Amino acid sequence: MVETVTGTNRSAGVSYDEVLARDSHPVRDILRVTNPLPPGPTIVDPKVYYSREVHELEKERLWKRVWQMACHEDDIPNVGDAIKYDIADLSYIVVRSGEDQFHAFPNACLHRGRQIIHQDETSLRNFRCAFHGWAWSLEGELQEVPCHWDFPTVTKKSHSLPQVKVGRWGGFVFINPDPNCEPLEDFLGDIDAHMTHVPMDRRYKAVHVAKRLPCNWKVAHEAFAEAYHSIATHPTLLGSLGCANSKYDIFGNFSRALSAHLVGSPHVPKELAEHPYMDATPFTRQRHELTGNIYERVAQGRVKVTTTDNRVGYFDDRGNHLDGAKFHADIHLCNWVGGRLVEGMDELPSNVVTGDWADKRAKAASVRREALRPTLGDMMDEVSDAELLDPIYYSLFPNISPWGSFNQIFYRFRPYGDNPEECIHECLFMWPAPAGKPRPPAAKMQWLDLDDDYVDAPQLGHLSKVFNQDTLNLPYVQKGLHSLKEVIFANYGETKPRHFHMIYNQWMAKE
Ligand code: FES
Ligand SMILES: [Fe+2]
Repeated sequence: MVETVTGTNRSAGVSYDEVLARDSHPVRDILRVTNPLPPGPTIVDPKVYYSREVHELEKERLWKRVWQMACHEDDIPNVGDAIKYDIADLSYIVVRSGEDQFHAFPNACLHRGRQIIHQDETSLRNFRCAFHGWAWSLEGELQEVPCHWDFPTVTKKSHSLPQVKVGRWGGFVFINPDPNCEPLEDFLGDIDAHMTHVPMDRRYKAVHVAKRLPCNWKVAHEAFAEAYHSIATHPTLLGSLGCANSKYDIFGNFSRALSAHLVGSPHVPKELAEHPYMDATPFTRQRHELTGNIYERVAQGRVKVTTTDNRVGYFDDRGNHLDGAKFHADIHLCNWVGGRLVEGMDELPSNVVTGDWADKRAKAASVRREALRPTLGDMMDEVSDAELLDPIYYSLFPNISPWGSFNQIFYRFRPYGDNPEECIHECLFMWPAPAGKPRPPAAKMQWLDLDDDYVDAPQLGHLSKVFNQDTLNLPYVQKGLHSLKEVIFANYGETKPRHFHMIYNQWMAKE
């Protein structure tokens, strides 16, 4: 148990403010802004994660009213390209209707309801329903009704497609089905002030992976919205992530977390923190940074665990005991070391770096600065170590997490079809586009189903292994919620989920 440093919103060890104070480059003021969520309700009814009634209410009170990211502009690069955006059992068309113009409509033919498009489309000249052939322009104006004489009440005025509001931010297309909604700009607030150095519209979608998960969309969203879970779920990150000393702030409809890289978790015992395990290899041999036990990959699905008092046990990649005198092992470290690998991961050499954390950060940031210089030029000299190294992650209500600065990650979480107990987790990599050049084309989405592994998308790199650890918990969370009376969130370390539920409750209560 690590002692709480009373009044400072952190565990013992280095605070994020101290990290910023020792940056080798000037730090932008926006990183120093402190705006914590005041203490308040931390209890959530588990039903919000599985009840059909809540799911139905979400459709009416949230999805039909809120601004939501439907696609990236580059997903539909040419006039006539259209995307079918589904949220729960609702479906919308988003179309590039002009060079720099987008329209959106409910995806339902105004005759007898067939979906106007049942897949993404390219280069359409108009929308023609495949059932009886009614047709609309890309702007939604009714163009043609076969045997129009038989529908005396049907006119352009009465049967043009209902318009869904469209907004644009950072190269993304947002929609809002509520005709009386506030402008997207008001909903976003001052989020642009946070997208420093490389704003979202200067980035391009280099990777897009979508994975179906056996849990509610909020369960998945919240699992990726705090660093507190790193202590138990990501033992491999403890040596390098100041998890429990992350800084959390809220700003209107969005929140953020800043976690220090290369500082080390305050939960790592002193004797282990002072003696790094020099034989570690990134994916095949690791020390558990809380216990000191060594986990080694023998083969896929077989992990040898050696305790500090030299007992040995063998486990599968789910932490199940196979043989030996040690009977229990950490499921997440077994999964990391014994689970499937992306090709080449098993040959990576030791990468243990030693030294003072501020020096390690300055060196690592300098490597990153030079790697980005050919793309972004000398602006790199103005970028702090923090922006180059740290997970700085934002969450915009209700369901996206665009990471800031030079972090490429961008998440979206949606219900999977009409099932409140399944969702889609999407991970996009938004890389900086070369300075002065147009954005490269957007990556196509790769779909991973329930039984697929994130390493089936090797373009995710080491994050595929991190996501496997994260999502290992989720089916058990979803099951456990059915037997739980109340969910409790930490006052500070779970600021982001608390902030989410604060706004969510307001939307769900609005008639
Ligand atoms: S249902 Fe679309 S034209 Fe009949
Ligand atoms: Fe995680």
